[in-house]
Amino acid sequence: MSVSWDPDQYHRFKQQRAAPFRDLKRWLKVRPGLNAVDLGCGTGELTRQLADLLPDSQVLGIDTSAEMLSQSQAFERPGLSFRQQNLADVEGQFDLIFSHAALHWVENHPWLFARLWDRLLPGGQLLVQMPHNFDHLSHRLAADIAHTHFDLRSRVTEVLAPEDYADLLYHLGAQEFEVVLKVYPHVMTDAQAIVEWTRGTLLTAYLPQLSPTQQSEFLAIYSRRLGEQMPEKPVFYAFKRLLLQAVKL
Ligand SMILES: C[S@@+](CC[C@H](N)C(=O)[O-])C[C@H]1O[C@@H](n2cnc3c(N)ncnc32)[C@H](O)[C@@H]1O
Repeated sequence: MSVSWDPDQYHRFKQQRAAPFRDLKRWLKVRPGLNAVDLGCGTGELTRQLADLLPDSQVLGIDTSAEMLSQSQAFERPGLSFRQQNLADVEGQFDLIFSHAALHWVENHPWLFARLWDRLLPGGQLLVQMPHNFDHLSHRLAADIAHTHFDLRSRVTEVLAPEDYADLLYHLGAQEFEVVLKVYPHVMTDAQAIVEWTRGTLLTAYLPQLSPTQQSEFLAIYSRRLGEQMPEKPVFYAFKRLLLQAVKL
């Protein structure tokens, strides 16, 4: 799937996207001298915040997007580095595998989670946040327009139900784990603000596959239909996210 990321567009809603990071931090088991990896680290801004919580640790951020990683230099420091790599190919053994808003871009979660579990050292922690909003109007509408107007494959999510992650973690042998589905409430100026939000993330799965004219067409249809169905100003945008943590004993 062709995906093109624009760090500036993504960070327009940085404040809203920081809330799940704060929630994940509460679960973080801080120990000195950890070997940690941030999968799908984006620009590395949150990777730096994570690294700063981990004394004397080695933290590696990996991401496939050259555009996102182009901003990561600003966050590098001794003990924190970045690499362009597919997270599914991550090698090595870690005390902490962290991922914030990225694993939903990778298919086959039963396979992925088993692979990540194998990469955890005994005592290691898996700490993950993923959007779980694919049934929201904003996401359903984008999938419908992509399919009906442009014959694109709908971005069918690989994200599983919360209980399926619990099941997965149990069968991987996790002795201690938590899986939480949380609604993050956002008050947006209007539906157009939601369009701008999704342009930074969800729509990167569709727009790069279209010509510039088609992209404008897509956005015009999406803005009109979302505006018709979410006409309030300001408008309430409920955004579900799944958070999980598990420790390998
Ligand atoms: C929504 S951004 C999140 C960035 C950062 N973790 C944050 O929370 O600010 C998702 C990131 O996942 C990256 N990504 C998507 N699929 C990936 C893959 N297979 N391997 C590595 N990175 C991937 C994208 O390039 C993008 O930077």
